[in-house]
Amino acid sequence: MTVFSEYAPWYDLLYRDKDYSAEAAFVEASLREHGVASGKLLDLGCGTGLHALAFARQGWHVAGIDLSHEMIASAKARAADAGLAIPFRQGNACETGPERDFDAVVSLFHVASYQTSRNALAAMFRTAHAALKPGGVFLFDYWYGGAVLAQGVETRVKVIEQPPLRLTRIAQSDHDEQAATVTVNYTLFCEDTDRATIRRVDEAHHMRYWFPFEIDSALEASGFQPAAHAAWLTRHAPNTKNWAAYAVARKNGT
Ligand SMILES: C[S@@+](CC[C@H](N)C(=O)[O-])C[C@H]1O[C@@H](n2cnc3c(N)ncnc32)[C@H](O)[C@@H]1O
Repeated sequence: MTVFSEYAPWYDLLYRDKDYSAEAAFVEASLREHGVASGKLLDLGCGTGLHALAFARQGWHVAGIDLSHEMIASAKARAADAGLAIPFRQGNACETGPERDFDAVVSLFHVASYQTSRNALAAMFRTAHAALKPGGVFLFDYWYGGAVLAQGVETRVKVIEQPPLRLTRIAQSDHDEQAATVTVNYTLFCEDTDRATIRRVDEAHHMRYWFPFEIDSALEASGFQPAAHAAWLTRHAPNTKNWAAYAVARKNGT
């Protein structure tokens, strides 16, 4: 069983306010600025496929990989419903697969922070490198260490009502500053108010925050030229106000 196996059925409801199309448009503009405007795009850690579908609708030839069987099943169903032929497969982003000759690789919504060791991050970078053409562009986001240390962790509660469902998520985090990790202990209470049922789901997500200098050194060791770091959905440098940052790198060669 992988992380997200229990969480997956509730994932889209939890993030129903996240604007995947706007994010995909932002990523597309960033890729264009870095010289890639169209072609083949691989989504590493694609989850339930919402970014992948948005890219496909913009004309990209998209493929997606995710560790979670449940997330991939959801992505496949979504693509079939939309009539889009997107090859989604279950797989580990830290193991190089058969994907080759992509113009762009993206890895969005903290997939890089689910890799909690330098070795795992480097392995993920090698997968992206193997999948890209020379000169291809890799864009991914991560938890920015400067913001995590400045803000610290706190318990958060999120309630989502979509009658007859009510979802309450409690997130309690344990911060290990020496290891630069945060374990987020999620408890979900999933209520069906029509049926008067309630189900409890517990899942721990182990996360690593990163600093641009360590990302850059792992990128360089994996055959990339780091090109930019910025706060998520901005062009400004990563900063203490924003946990989410992203990096752009180009595969060496032309
Ligand atoms: C927060 S979700 C983001 C999913 C999707 N990118 C999105 O934006 O909705 C993180 C995803 O990363 C996937 N993941 C984490 N580690 C992975 C790995 N080593 N290989 C493939 N997928 C991984 C999880 O299964 C999960 O679907």
